[in-house]
Amino acid sequence: MFERIKEIKQELEKIKIENEKHLEEFRIKFISRKSVVGELMGGIREIAQEQRKAFGQEVNELKNLAQAKFKEAISELENKNSTGSTDYTDLTLPNIPHQLGTIHPLTQVREKIVTIFQRIGFNVADGPEVEDDWHNFSALNFPPNHPAREMQDTFFISKDPDILLRTHTSNVQIRLMEKQEPPIRSIMPGRVFRNEAISARAHCIFHQVEGLYINENVSFADLKNTLYYFAREMFGKNTKIRLRPSFFPFTEPSAELDISCFICDQKGCKVCKHTGWVEIGGCGMVDPNVLESSNIDSEKYTGFAFGMGIERITMLKYKIDDIRLFFENDVRFLRQFQSLS
Ligand code: PHE
Repeated sequence: MFERIKEIKQELEKIKIENEKHLEEFRIKFISRKSVVGELMGGIREIAQEQRKAFGQEVNELKNLAQAKFKEAISELENKNSTGSTDYTDLTLPNIPHQLGTIHPLTQVREKIVTIFQRIGFNVADGPEVEDDWHNFSALNFPPNHPAREMQDTFFISKDPDILLRTHTSNVQIRLMEKQEPPIRSIMPGRVFRNEAISARAHCIFHQVEGLYINENVSFADLKNTLYYFAREMFGKNTKIRLRPSFFPFTEPSAELDISCFICDQKGCKVCKHTGWVEIGGCGMVDPNVLESSNIDSEKYTGFAFGMGIERITMLKYKIDDIRLFFENDVRFLRQFQSLS
C-alpha cells in the first residue's frame, strides 16, 4: 500500500493542467470523494495496526499536495483567460470624443435678443413667476372682469388673495416702476404660463422678452425706431417692420409688431400666409393709468413698452413648425443647434 502512495504521488507530480478539461479530470481523479486518494483512505483498514498512523500521515500529505496543485492550476487558468482574451486596451486607437452639450435654441435666441438691446442701453430685469393679481393684472390697468383674468386663461395658485402664475413678463415692469425712479430702460426675459391646450402652435409654458423705456419726452417715434433697429439686427439688414393698431389694457395707443417675411422675401409663402408679413409681438405707449398706479408722474414722464415671444422668434428664424419640440429635449432636435453656440 505504501508503494501505491508513491506511485500516485509520482503520477500527480507529472500531470500538466493546461485547460478546463484537464482541470476537471484532475479533480475527479485526485480530489473528489471517489478519487484515488479517497480510495487509499478507505484502504486503511487493511493496514497493520502499528503502521496505520504512518500510513494516514502519508495519505494526508498526498491529499494536501493534490489540493495545492488544484488551487494553483485554477488561478493559473484564470490569469490566462483574462490576459488571453480580447479584454485589452489598444493604445493606437483614436480617442472617443467627449460629447459636448449644446445651448438650448431658446437660450441662444434669448441671449441674442438681450445683447441687441444691451447695445443701446437696456439692462436686464428679473421678477417672480408666481405673482399676485396686482402686479400681473390690476396695476396694468386690466378691468376687474377682463377675460384674461378667467381660470381658462390663467393658472391660479390660490383665490382670495389671488396668487397666480404670471401670464406675461409685464409684472416685472410694474415691480421696476415701483422701486426705481425714471429713467428706466430695461428688458425682461422670462418664462410665462397660460392655461392653453398644447398644440403645434401653442404651449402652456413659453418665454417672452418685454421691454420698457420711461423718461421725459419718450415718443412713439422712439418706439418705432427701437423696434426697427432690433428687427434689422435680429433678422437681417433688409428687414422692414410694420405696426398695426391693436389693443392692450396697459398701452395706449397699442400696436401689433410685424416684420417683413424673410423666408420668402415678401414674395408670399406658407409661413407668412402669403401676406409678406409675420407677427412677432405687441407694443405701445405706456398708459398713464399704469404710470400713476406705480406712482410715476404721468404729466412729466412718458414711456413705451413692447413684448415678444421667444419661441415665436426662434420658430421663424429656424423654420421650426412645432413649438412642442422645444420642451421635449430630443437630442436629435437639439443637436441641430450645435453650430450656433
Ligand atoms: N404683455 C403683452 C402680452 O403678453 C405683450 C405686450 C407687452 C404688449 C408690452 C404691449 C406692450 O401679450
